[in-house]
Amino acid sequence: MPIPKAELHLHIEGTLEPELAFALAARNDVDLPYADTEELRKAYLFDDLQSFLDLYYGLMAVLRTEADFADLADAYLARAAAQGVRHAEIFFDPQAHLARGVPLATVIDGLSRALDRSEERHGVSTRLIMCFLRDQSAESAMETLRAAEPHLDRIIGVGLDSAEVGHPPAKFKEVYEAAAALGLRLVAHAGEEGPPAYITEALDVLRVERVDHGLRCMEDPELVERLVRERVPLTLCPLSNVRLRAIDVLEEHPLARMMDAGLLCTINSDDPAYFGGYVDDTFHAVREALGIDQERLRTLARNSFEAAFLDRDAADEAL
Ligand code: ADE
Ligand code: ZN
Repeated sequence: MPIPKAELHLHIEGTLEPELAFALAARNDVDLPYADTEELRKAYLFDDLQSFLDLYYGLMAVLRTEADFADLADAYLARAAAQGVRHAEIFFDPQAHLARGVPLATVIDGLSRALDRSEERHGVSTRLIMCFLRDQSAESAMETLRAAEPHLDRIIGVGLDSAEVGHPPAKFKEVYEAAAALGLRLVAHAGEEGPPAYITEALDVLRVERVDHGLRCMEDPELVERLVRERVPLTLCPLSNVRLRAIDVLEEHPLARMMDAGLLCTINSDDPAYFGGYVDDTFHAVREALGIDQERLRTLARNSFEAAFLDRDAADEAL
């Protein structure tokens, strides 16, 4: 039995398995530049974040209707349940769909169709976090936030993703202030490929409650001290870090050192269809590669509930 856990760093578009991508391409009459699932899988050799993002945004062409988004999310939730996930806080990238002419309501209504049935069908509670693409303008992010206002009953928070280097958090200060004023929870990717200063900026300027990745904090001992002192959760994604070459091999991942330092670490799958495993696969992989023992795996699972946007009672119940 997998350890019960929450998943806090998961891009729903990153759960698009090649088989589903081809099924949706056929359903929607979309031509894919790959002969079959095998050829597509062979393209999953990435040099860095950008080379992954190029393929990831390209494959989203198959997601067109509410049913597509519902099928995508339902497939993830079924897999997540089998991996011991009891609660999932799910990112989605509205701008990547709006740019292709897919309305925001199609995305949110489609995802919600699966999420609304998730507790009953899969025993997984869910929340949605809307991410802004940081390589697009702050104006575009603000327009996206305004477009989401009629749907705020379905969105718990906002995040920041896509190409990190050259797009520091401060660019989105006003958008995050507006999101906070709407009562939304705040997270952001920082320190995946970008420098530790981006993590500090996400905390000080965007006022995020959780840092997605935060891997490169280890280069700045004062920042580590602060993250420990303020008990800021980090949503680490070790398999992603290896596939996107932030780390050469899993054996060199700093997870164990980060836990030793007292950081509030969680481990997550990021884009599991692309990175070779879902969240319990990640638990297994760090146990094998880093010698993280059972007690520490339990700590990681406990941390995931502590870091979740659940009230205390719900988190305790899930444990
Ligand atoms: N979008 C999907 N996966 C991402 C990642 N690992 N980093 C930044 N943006 C992303
Ligand atoms: Zn991510």
